[in-house]
Amino acid sequence: MFSQYEDFINKLISAGIEESEAKREISILLSEIGENNLEEIEKIVRKRVQTRIPIQYLLGKASFMDFEVKVNEKVLIPRPETEILVEETVKRLERHVIPAKAGIQKQDYMLRSSGFRVKPGMTLTALDIGTGSGIIAIAIAKLIPDIKITSIDIDKEIIHLAKENAKLNNVENKINFKICDVFSKCFEGLLQSQKFDLIVSNPPYVKGRTCYGKSVQPEIMHEPKIALSGSKENTTGLIYYERIIELIKKCYGLPRHCEEAQSADPLRRSEASVVISKRYEIALPLARNDVKLLAFEIDPPLVDDLKSLLKKNNLNNYEIIKDYSKLDRCLFVYP
Ligand SMILES: C[S@@+](CC[C@H](N)C(=O)[O-])C[C@H]1O[C@@H](n2cnc3c(N)ncnc32)[C@H](O)[C@@H]1O
Repeated sequence: MFSQYEDFINKLISAGIEESEAKREISILLSEIGENNLEEIEKIVRKRVQTRIPIQYLLGKASFMDFEVKVNEKVLIPRPETEILVEETVKRLERHVIPAKAGIQKQDYMLRSSGFRVKPGMTLTALDIGTGSGIIAIAIAKLIPDIKITSIDIDKEIIHLAKENAKLNNVENKINFKICDVFSKCFEGLLQSQKFDLIVSNPPYVKGRTCYGKSVQPEIMHEPKIALSGSKENTTGLIYYERIIELIKKCYGLPRHCEEAQSADPLRRSEASVVISKRYEIALPLARNDVKLLAFEIDPPLVDDLKSLLKKNNLNNYEIIKDYSKLDRCLFVYP
């Protein structure tokens, strides 16, 4: 039996798959399919070697954090980097957004900086842009007790799959899935009609179609272009960030132009925002809202362009968080 596993691993390695990945995949197959079904495992290994279709698509499922979702070739395979985005977003919700929304005073916040729970009756609201398999919304819904999330994506089948995944993970009551194109009126309508404390997105950010060059791993070729680089116009990798920021500014009238609003302390900013929005009632006629946190996954080489975009839009309070390879991977903006 053992030599059979070795044989599977060697087949994967000779197809160009790295040894550690080959071992990981065989152990996934053994736990998913079972040692007693070697024929089935052999069939999948054969297909994997011939096509280089990612193992998650062949199995129809993938893991993210501590849960599983169904996947198919319409959606991106969950990445470990996105787990960092979720973990860091949840930390910021607990440390900054929830206390700010609950009106907790700065001194209390300083005393209890280890995280807050939402007060009874207070529900956070979030918008997840480009939900794909739904992993970001599902993970946040599992981790934050009182939250209502709206998740959007461009395609009917994608939304159908994400809904199914929310149901599989028992969070379907906390997430409202919608087909909505970020570049359409629907997106503007959504921002104008609903309040969101958090806007989170792992948008398509691969520059142009650079992910389809010769040096790219064959597995990537099986992932959807709409998820990796999105629309054909995305030659810079930036158009989704530009659109989201443009519309948030248009609909919410951000950022607030004052010293306090630019404080590094999100609580101080949120206290300030009441005064500011009254003071600038006329200057910011569209500001009915108070989005507290924007959370984005980013492509490390785009970090300078993103900093310029934020500067151009007067969004000066932000943090950049690195991934496991010490590359800039998450951007948190406090508008
Ligand atoms: C990088 S994937 C992220 C998927 C998932 N959130 C994740 O982290 O694995 C980007 C997602 O944006 C969606 N998308 C692309 N263009 C869009 C648009 N114009 N409007 C809404 N969603 C879009 C894609 O279908 C894809 O699911």
